[in-house]
Amino acid sequence: MGLLTGFEKIVRPEEPLAMYTWFQIGGPAQYMAEPHDADQLLALIKRCHEESVAVRMLGSGSNVLVRDKGVEGVVIRLSEPAFAEIKIHRQTISAGGGARLGQVVTTAAHEGLAGLETLVAIPGTLGAALHGNAGTHGGDVGQWTAQATVVSYTGEVFTREREEMTFGYRQSSLDELVILHAKLQLEEDDPQEISKRLQKQWIVRKASQPMGHQCAGCVFKNPRGVSAGELIEEAGLKGTRIGGAVVSDRHANFIVAEPDCTSNDVLRLIDLIRDQVRDRLDVELELELEIW
Ligand code: EPU
Repeated sequence: MGLLTGFEKIVRPEEPLAMYTWFQIGGPAQYMAEPHDADQLLALIKRCHEESVAVRMLGSGSNVLVRDKGVEGVVIRLSEPAFAEIKIHRQTISAGGGARLGQVVTTAAHEGLAGLETLVAIPGTLGAALHGNAGTHGGDVGQWTAQATVVSYTGEVFTREREEMTFGYRQSSLDELVILHAKLQLEEDDPQEISKRLQKQWIVRKASQPMGHQCAGCVFKNPRGVSAGELIEEAGLKGTRIGGAVVSDRHANFIVAEPDCTSNDVLRLIDLIRDQVRDRLDVELELELEIW
């Protein structure tokens, strides 16, 4: 393994990435690493930095499309329990970057801590949610974030306090390599009331988005507060297909991958949507989905 000697137990060469993404398509990673704890993670990142090996963090794969040829370098997943601990102290919930956002939301609700209800159906890890400031029309994860511990590309650990962080629409100042840990400051409320709000959110989301299909989250950001889905529908593109990639009939800002779909099909469909929305509605759509 040369460059990664000493990490054989946590690194696998030529690991197919499709099974780690919601689209379930795309090629392999040159190396996939699943460290057991933070020390191992830091050592690995430092080695990659010394050896000039590219490193990417993969969360739960709900906002990424891996190209058919795969990716060079190391893809790291924080899949081990050490990265997913969730703890409550008074009105603060602390969680590892590898914890599922959904799990953080339901744990908070169970403990009578309110604020995150509108985030209930958002897939992905807490780290990824903070990296892209995941949210809905009802709010985002950044607004509750009190502190984050991050790791730089050189393997150094920093703590960012509330006043040092900025969060915008689907963007945050947390652009280091890893979000290792975060604290969210919430508000006390009756667990039953919180639970009712969670259920309501689930119903709304299930009715308006193609959940359970082979797809990622929204493909494009909403330009200037207009729904990209609405624009794509207005451009007449619902149901449009290239190979196995189809614009969802339920919500046009989702692409569903049918059996035999390739990443190239999805990429060509993305280009077609962008071209048609530009030509017909004079709006430039920006990707929310990450393309690897
Ligand atoms: N609409 C259409 N056609 C469509 C889709 C939507 O006409 O195909 C209309 C709806 O009828 C509604 C409006 O557009 O009047 C807004 O739709 P929706 O409530 O579904 O919200 P959105 O703006 O399309 C945003 C986020 C979603 C998030 C929902 C719910 C973005 C890009 N999308 O979608 O987030 O779940 O609000 O709050 O910001 C994501 O970021 O991956 C994502 C799915």
